Amino acid sequence: MTVVILGARGKIAQHVATGLQAREIPVRLGTRTGTGQPARRGASPLPDGALEFDPADPGSILEGAEQVFLYADPATAPAFVAAADQAGVKQVVLLSSAASQAGTTDAAADPHGTAEAIVATGPYATTFLQPGAFMSNALFWGYSMRTTGEVRIPYLDAEEAPIHERDIADVAIEVLSAGPGAEHDGRGYELTGPESMTRRRQLELITEVLGVPVKMAELTPAEGRAELAAVMGDGPQLDSLMSYWASRVGNPHPTNTNVTALTGHPARPFTTWLTDHASTFTS
Ligand SMILES: NC(=O)c1ccc[n+]([C@@H]2O[C@H](COP(=O)([O-])OP(=O)(O)OC[C@H]3O[C@@H](n4cnc5c(N)ncnc54)[C@H](OP(=O)(O)O)[C@@H]3O)[C@@H](O)[C@H]2O)c1
Repeated sequence: MTVVILGARGKIAQHVATGLQAREIPVRLGTRTGTGQPARRGASPLPDGALEFDPADPGSILEGAEQVFLYADPATAPAFVAAADQAGVKQVVLLSSAASQAGTTDAAADPHGTAEAIVATGPYATTFLQPGAFMSNALFWGYSMRTTGEVRIPYLDAEEAPIHERDIADVAIEVLSAGPGAEHDGRGYELTGPESMTRRRQLELITEVLGVPVKMAELTPAEGRAELAAVMGDGPQLDSLMSYWASRVGNPHPTNTNVTALTGHPARPFTTWLTDHASTFTS
């Protein structure tokens, strides 16, 4: 059995690949064509052996594969479903988002929910991983500190329960190792980190754990929106994110124990993430 891992540049994809290989499960890494293009800021470099594929026509990368790890992209999901059907894929683990559970009916505001709905139409078992905020969002703060000397974000006091990328990968590894036909078929797993903390507290921990001073500049919602729009584009998804942060100020984020239940180990704390990524802030 070969597991095809699409989005090979992705941080989670790379941990999934390493974890499956450690269990001696063969993997095939796929990266979108045109990887000569710069990786998104914060994305990892392309791993050795990754094969290019066209996400609008992914048949070649799926040939002979029974299991797939997939990033959510509503634009290319229909082509994926058709090609996976053709290839006889039996199990798809989709990296989605807790945002898919927000109950919005606006597809543009909820690309993850839209991708879930499309991927669910295929003739294979599905498991949707639905993490909330990533600890790795702090990589952008590190980038900002290096380039501007400060971290400029809105809603410093919004509460999140950020999750380590390795915990998300560990869940994917368990689900893929169990294979189709196991208890994960048809399930969506909301995944959180171990505790609720404000974005301000995460920034304070950079100093407490790594000894690196952090200058915080809290932007007004209008300023934050303008700066974020330049990075992620303006539109309904940004509207959702801004209202989400506003709703979480003074409102601790619920946590769950799905990481522990699915992997057998507790979710890693943010302090662990910081030591795992110390060079982002110290170099
Ligand atoms: N940041 C958060 O707080 C958060 C929360 C919940 C969910 N998510 C979701 O988690 C994913 C990010 O995971 P990560 O940290 O492992 O990713 P990452 O390191 O930022 O890399 C993302 C990789 O996804 C692959 N990809 C596949 N289809 C893509 C597309 N249409 N557009 C852009 N990239 C595409 C690309 O790999 P190749 O270049 O190799 O093809 C890309 O390098 C995103 O889908 C995001 O929406 C994020």
